Amino acid sequence: MRMVDLIVKKQQGKELSKEEIRFVVEGYTAGKIPDYQVSAFAMAIYFKDMSDQERMELTMAIAESGDQIDLSAIEGVKVDKHSTGGVGDTTTLILAPLVASTGVPVAKMSGRGLGHTGGTIDKLESIPGFQVEISEERFIELVNQNKVAVVGQTTDITPADKKLYALRDVTGTVDSLPLIASSIMSKKLASGADAIVLDVKVGAGAFMKTAEAAEELAHAMVKIGNLAGCQTMAIISDMSQPLGRAVGNALEVQEAIETLKGNGPSDLEELCLELGSQMVYLGGKAEDLDSAKALLKEKLANGEALEKFKQFVAAQGGDPHVADYYTLMPQAAYTHEVVAEADGYVMNIVADHIGVAAMLLGAGRATKESEIDLAAGLMINKKVGETVKKGESLVTLYANQSTFNEAEKMVLEAYTIGAEQIKPTLIHQTITE
Ligand code: URA
Ligand code: CA
Repeated sequence: MRMVDLIVKKQQGKELSKEEIRFVVEGYTAGKIPDYQVSAFAMAIYFKDMSDQERMELTMAIAESGDQIDLSAIEGVKVDKHSTGGVGDTTTLILAPLVASTGVPVAKMSGRGLGHTGGTIDKLESIPGFQVEISEERFIELVNQNKVAVVGQTTDITPADKKLYALRDVTGTVDSLPLIASSIMSKKLASGADAIVLDVKVGAGAFMKTAEAAEELAHAMVKIGNLAGCQTMAIISDMSQPLGRAVGNALEVQEAIETLKGNGPSDLEELCLELGSQMVYLGGKAEDLDSAKALLKEKLANGEALEKFKQFVAAQGGDPHVADYYTLMPQAAYTHEVVAEADGYVMNIVADHIGVAAMLLGAGRATKESEIDLAAGLMINKKVGETVKKGESLVTLYANQSTFNEAEKMVLEAYTIGAEQIKPTLIHQTITE
């Protein structure tokens, strides 16, 4: 096989075989095929697309390019959840104990990553004593015992994706549906789940800005998962404004606990119930999505989800009293209210700007080396559709520095206040095949 022939074949829009796709991915990972040929190959995919079968084969080749995590020692159907990312997405902290309380095992390996706030792992470190570095044996033991554990990702999975993504970044081929879908799904499939629930975000604060683009991506990923033999479902959810009210690490842990107590923001609770229903259904603990949701509501109402959270925290060395005493977590030295400049309805909150404001306060990492301030962040007091009077607080800022100017400017830029009351749609679609 010659790489140039495969480039030309794809350039002509023909379908590549499993062997041909493997040849490219394995050759590239091993350093036998140069960047310039893979650049041309990615560009051919960009213009000619791939069939469902090709997308699945590409995904599997990338998934198998490095270490694969073996969760077979964990009893039950392991269901993983993946979000395409947004601002203030606290769902994992809620879903892990909530879903585990129904008996579905949640074996979560999470990253730190760059962004407006830390990753799930950073957030959990707001809890005094909480250990995110746990051996694989102990991790599996904890999931078998308690049905839930969340640890930092240490294994080097999907090296082909790292290489390919860096190349796409500088060759104008990031924005290609088959390449995005295979990139995301390869990492999920290498992580050892038996079933996958996807939360595809749409809107100004998301990777996918339009409903059409989000729908296409969701369908593509669900197809890949199912063709690969891993039951996969997706939800398309709104990220035009931030999810919930908290954006920041300790603040989001607090919001997650409030949600587990049944006092969470309605949008965050609703999304968790939707995603959680799919997880419980795929995990085999409910006959259909409706009974799965009823079961989750019961676990919230009877306190079992909150109990599961405390058990999970304690099992990983954390202080479970944080559930009752939020001040055990890092507290910001200063707060500042950003107030409305006019009366009206909140018509829009640009999620990205809110995310940047949180990062300016210290909640996120600008580079891999940056330190996170776990206490920093913000609380959104007025969401889209709510009324506001001039001088009322829109957002409370939290920081360990006393200068709020830049963050305040970003928040004011994020808000549009006007005469029309808008009711935002949270769940755009549920995709099951
Ligand atoms: N996220 C990924 O992991 N890969 C992509 O290609 C795009 C977004
Ligand atoms: Ca939130």
